[in-house]
Amino acid sequence: MNRYETLANAMADEIRSGRLPIGSKLPSIRQITTQHGVSQSTVLSAYYLLEEWGLIRAEERSGYFVTPGASVAPVETPRAQSLAESAKVDISSLVFSVLQATKHVGAVPLGSAFPSPLLFPLSRLAKSLNQGARTLNPWSTVADLPPGNEHLRRQIALRYVGAGIASPIDNIVVTNGALEALNLSLMAVTRPGDIVAVESPGFYAALQAIERLDLRALEIPVDPVTGLDLDALAAALDKHPVRACWFMTNFQNPTGVTLTDDKKRALVELLTAHDVPLIEDDVYQELHFGKTRPLPAKAFDTKGLVMHCSSFSKTLAPGYRIGWVSAGRYTERVQRLKLMTTLSASIPAQAGIADYLQYGGYDKHLRQLRNAFKSQLSSMQVALRRHLPARARWTVPSGGYFIWIELPDAIDAMALHQRAIEHGISIAPGPMFSATHSFQNCIRLNFGHPWSGQIEDAIRTLGDILVDPEMRATARHFRSCAADTEPTDGI
Ligand SMILES: Cc1ncc(COP(=O)(O)O)c(C=O)c1O
Repeated sequence: MNRYETLANAMADEIRSGRLPIGSKLPSIRQITTQHGVSQSTVLSAYYLLEEWGLIRAEERSGYFVTPGASVAPVETPRAQSLAESAKVDISSLVFSVLQATKHVGAVPLGSAFPSPLLFPLSRLAKSLNQGARTLNPWSTVADLPPGNEHLRRQIALRYVGAGIASPIDNIVVTNGALEALNLSLMAVTRPGDIVAVESPGFYAALQAIERLDLRALEIPVDPVTGLDLDALAAALDKHPVRACWFMTNFQNPTGVTLTDDKKRALVELLTAHDVPLIEDDVYQELHFGKTRPLPAKAFDTKGLVMHCSSFSKTLAPGYRIGWVSAGRYTERVQRLKLMTTLSASIPAQAGIADYLQYGGYDKHLRQLRNAFKSQLSSMQVALRRHLPARARWTVPSGGYFIWIELPDAIDAMALHQRAIEHGISIAPGPMFSATHSFQNCIRLNFGHPWSGQIEDAIRTLGDILVDPEMRATARHFRSCAADTEPTDGI
């Protein structure tokens, strides 16, 4: 870790522990320079990093202040698990029951994994689909078999070039959404019984894939502010024969956290030293609120160890099911697996998206989408501050459309989910994001829908449920059943 990162982490701890309370002014750069014996540029870099994490903000001619969003944070970071603790995974029943309930609500989709389809350029896309289908070569059914439509792969490769990442067109395999890209990548590098390192909290589909393929998950803690715990990962790699890692380095689901470039580089170096492949899930890469798109870990990969997976599902066309993997040294294996499983992604959809990428104005659409998410995030934060109990904390993501909230300890997110469903509101409860059903007092909310009175009311209702004495009783019941101890925390 660099000096400025060490300093930023130390100051983040001060903020998160409340020793530097919200609204308080940070020491001047000169004070820190003297106190810590570091250069001014180290302090400035640390302050920029804290700003990027949403913990502080600069006020003109006054200095730096701890932001309200920094009520944020330290959602408890779990320990890295021992193998005995992790072993086999059984997450599907929980995820299915939550997703089924969410599907039936038909009302306020705060638990949904998708943004509002109203934010996508549906009619322009239909024009491209039409154009793609009209000009489709009848022989494309054969020509577009894996690795996929060449026009589309060239457009995807160009976007890598635009981001300064080396990803030859020959390494790109088109898939049915990112989920298939991730699953094929996992299948390409593992056999039943193998150990796979995943994030905790992390995207439940990774756990489902591990469960389906009879693998074993080893959870590596993710701090909502600083991201993946590299020390824990290094220790896990030393101790266990980890066969692959499945991580998100940008706008992680569910916490929203993004690793710094230095950390991404260190991650790739660590995995290269152990010769362990990284399956990188980067579906939110284009949804950054800052000026530039954050680099993926793939950008630091010189050995072809990173399988970079993404799709157009979150940014353009969820129903088209078009994703891809830039699979490095595993390209041929992934390509074969694609042929052996679902043969090919939809040929007209590939042609349609290729046409849209070339002529449809994708970058302009992305700018509008990012602005919409950014403003929806502000509205969401105002509503959360207004309606949730004072002791609720959340992280402020710098991209994507999820916000991860830690509720007071005594709250059981599953009980809250049940009550919210009765009110026509879906939420994503924390236990969905862990093989061991941890994060019982956390929830993930979606801010990917245009702000409305209905959403504001839904947040108010969540706040009301949280202070309802019955909810506290339910939570106590859940807790005492689970832990056989009386909780000491109330709201
Ligand atoms: C983190 C993450 N990765 C991958 C996917 C799957 O993407 P796709 O719909 O392109 O298969 C999702 C969808 O919810 C997701 O949230």
